[in-house]
Amino acid sequence: MPLRVRKSDIKVGEKKVFKDGEKEILVIYLGGNKFIAVNNKCPHLGCKLDKTGVIIREELICQCHFTHFSLSTGEPRKGATKKQLIIYKVNDKGDEIEVET
Ligand code: FES
Repeated sequence: MPLRVRKSDIKVGEKKVFKDGEKEILVIYLGGNKFIAVNNKCPHLGCKLDKTGVIIREELICQCHFTHFSLSTGEPRKGATKKQLIIYKVNDKGDEIEVET
């Protein structure tokens, strides 16, 4: 079942964890209508990206071992792993977003 998040629950530039059963989904709000949802677990060694992740331009950088992931595709661009960061599709539902987990 998709996860629903109220847009007003998250501020511009903020990243926040939402639980979806066992999964932790990290929702990042970049402003405008740009919401990004990723798995909160770094695919390298599992650091929690709400604590270790920093967003710089179009990348999410896990500071555990400094892997840079593309925020649009999840592709690791440089760093410690070749594993892809899981990115979930986000649908605009007016006052809410729907994350396809
Ligand atoms: S756990 Fe994220 S880069 Fe190693």
